Amino acid sequence: MAHVWKSDPVNPDPEAVSQAAELLRSGRLVAIPTETVYGLAANALDEFAVQTIFAVKGRPSTNPLIVHVESEDDMKRVASSISDAARMLMQAFWPGPLSLVLPKQPHVPQIVTASGPTVAVRCPNHAVARAIIRMAGVPLAAPSANRSNEISPTKAEHVVRAFESDERVAGIMDAGPCQVGIESTVLDVSGAVPKILRPGMITRPMIEAVVGPIADEVEPSGIAKSPGMMARHYCPQTPLFLVHQADFHKELQLAQEAGQSVGLVGWDWTVPDQYARGLFDALHRLDQGGFDGIFAWLPPEEPQWAGVRDRLMRAAAKTKAE
Ligand code: TXA
Ligand code: MG
Repeated sequence: MAHVWKSDPVNPDPEAVSQAAELLRSGRLVAIPTETVYGLAANALDEFAVQTIFAVKGRPSTNPLIVHVESEDDMKRVASSISDAARMLMQAFWPGPLSLVLPKQPHVPQIVTASGPTVAVRCPNHAVARAIIRMAGVPLAAPSANRSNEISPTKAEHVVRAFESDERVAGIMDAGPCQVGIESTVLDVSGAVPKILRPGMITRPMIEAVVGPIADEVEPSGIAKSPGMMARHYCPQTPLFLVHQADFHKELQLAQEAGQSVGLVGWDWTVPDQYARGLFDALHRLDQGGFDGIFAWLPPEEPQWAGVRDRLMRAAAKTKAE
């Protein structure tokens, strides 16, 4: 059984942090809170520990992990060269929900980067995550703490449900609900022109305001743009339907006429921050609710909604693109 600690999100519990850090240093896995989603963390420089992350999640080895650091100095231990664009973006958005893909240092194990020459690095904006990284004294590889292709966790109870009885997960640090709610924006800054590999709450206009025009982003089509970007991801068991606001009444009526019960996501969430914060928890809860289907409001195709749209489209995708 994984040990569950509780900590205040702003004032980390020193005893809990030190126990979690000790376990991480000794090669064990610990689920940690971040501002985006809970992560399943291990020492990024310990190949065997990272291998265990892949095994526990059922994650294909072709999908590289994000390495979490506490400072710009730590960053230099994992990335071998830091472009001007990367430096400016770190200044503007770190700590925060932006992962930067950069050339890797040779000592970062192949398993972390799926044998690729680059590594994704981020500095989370969460006091507990940062305290754990600092105390562990090593960078932490941490994918979202869910089984591969299941809904990402934004509350400790989501992680507990998935992994509590897995001996390989030594502990789960409960610091309450995540404030951002969807995973970080992943930006490739290893080439001449930065490119968004996964949209998030650090949006394209926010990035362009710092570094100028970046490469075009494409919506998920089933073709992987980043090694791990399968179309089907974050999905509930209950069928999920994405509905435009204008079609809502018609769709709901059709479902009712067919005698079907539906759960609703997003109808009263009018701003992206609010939708992102509540999305995964709503999917977790509705998926347990025994509905015939889940309807989610599909927000407009605007940059500030790109992250939410991306997660919704992946969650609703019917076929696995592997
Ligand atoms: O907000 C987040 O980023 C959360 C929290 C825990 O920090 N982590 C997270 O990790 O979402 P994960 O493993 O669920 O997603 C990592 C994404 C994948 O889509 C992966 O393909 C991409 O980052 N990625 C990682 N390393 C990469 C690399 N070197 N090149 C391109 N894409 C990379
Ligand atoms: Mg994930």
